[in-house]
Amino acid sequence: MRDAYIVTSVRTPGCRRNKGAFRDTRPEDLLSFILDSAMQQTKNLAKKDVDDVMIGCSFPEAEQGLNIGRVASQMAGFPVEVTGATVNRFCSSGLEAIALASLRVMAGWSDVTIGGGVESMTYVPMGGSIPRPHPEFSKTQADNYISMGLTAENVANRYDISREQQDEFAYNSQKKAAAAKAGKKYTEIVPTPAVRFNKKEDGTFQKETFIQDFDDGIRESTTLEGLTKLRPAFSATGSVTAGNSSQMTDGAAATIIACEEKVKELGLKPVAKLKYYTTAGCRPDEMGVGPLYAIPKLLKLANVELKDVGVFEINEAFASQALYCTRELGIDLAKVNLNGGAIALGHPLGCTGAKLCATLMANMKSTGARYGVESMCIGGGMGAAALFERCE
Ligand SMILES: CC(C)(COP(=O)(O)OP(=O)(O)OC[C@H]1O[C@@H](n2cnc3c(N)ncnc32)[C@H](O)[C@@H]1OP(=O)(O)O)[C@@H](O)C(=O)NCCC(=O)NCCS
Repeated sequence: MRDAYIVTSVRTPGCRRNKGAFRDTRPEDLLSFILDSAMQQTKNLAKKDVDDVMIGCSFPEAEQGLNIGRVASQMAGFPVEVTGATVNRFCSSGLEAIALASLRVMAGWSDVTIGGGVESMTYVPMGGSIPRPHPEFSKTQADNYISMGLTAENVANRYDISREQQDEFAYNSQKKAAAAKAGKKYTEIVPTPAVRFNKKEDGTFQKETFIQDFDDGIRESTTLEGLTKLRPAFSATGSVTAGNSSQMTDGAAATIIACEEKVKELGLKPVAKLKYYTTAGCRPDEMGVGPLYAIPKLLKLANVELKDVGVFEINEAFASQALYCTRELGIDLAKVNLNGGAIALGHPLGCTGAKLCATLMANMKSTGARYGVESMCIGGGMGAAALFERCE
């Protein structure tokens, strides 16, 4: 197999569902912008050189339906010959898209591809607009449709993750993110045009475009005391709150992948190679434990030891599951989510896998780590994990 080189990996900021900067910006606009930005940042590569654009999306309907991978790549100005697809594996969709796009390059079927992700949780709610669980199956196997918040409660209860531990983890995520924002560490963010509608005196609205260049879910003012006071969000007697859960978010991200011949021919400067990607299944009612199975499976495949991984991006769907997985695996938290995670930065479902890839690439560059691992849990009871090796 050939190598799949990650040439460029970028993201829009992540902005709060309904309350944030992208609440009036359509997902196609976010995605087409970031696809075009990835191309602009890749000198010498022409849009016609890209073979296919694969885009992760967890709820591909309404504004982000109709094969948004194709629609947004056409909006971004790719020629009609460049194809597009939408990929869904819920929270790992963006990473799944990058892995599928990389496999095309590895197999020799394509020389250059793009993998990415998009989710507007403002435009399309989690669960979709018209959820319709199967009537008989859902009676006997209700856990397949369980609320994600309850799975986080199950992990906390079954594996003794206390409210205090969850709040402390959430506090650290917020503090790391606040420091990274102040220190301008998010080099993977591309300042992104957003839309707002201003009400005029005559009652009509005027459309205005502005540039959003930061993740607006970060709460610099977070204190442990403030987190302790929040009421449980999913169960009256529970420990999972709005403060120690991932935020619902809008965003998009894109990664350009190329084979070695193209890298050499065009003089591209790849950041890393995608070495391995895998998924592992677990009980749906504790889907948050997914990384606990996916990461060891990945490292075994790759024949790489945990201690040799320099940086991790592990999605903070909930503090309870992120803490449990890292604790059981014996991962040093100092290597995890260096600039904060989804508790502070948000979790735009189908975009997250692509967003975390962009962040991991930036962190592998800044730390010089040889190996980086990206992982997340997935609704329905799964985990996904990918191993990247930095290019010298
Ligand atoms: C938990 C959840 C229901 C909360 O939703 P929400 O009420 O819209 O959340 P918000 O971020 O608006 O926070 C609500 C309030 O909590 C408080 N709060 C949240 N984070 C806080 C913090 N760090 N410090 C202090 N207060 C905080 C604030 O009062 C906030 O209200 P404000 O924004 O008006 O100040 C929602 O974020 C959720 O479902 N998350 C999980 C999503 C999910 O399941 N994803 C898939 C995972 S597999």
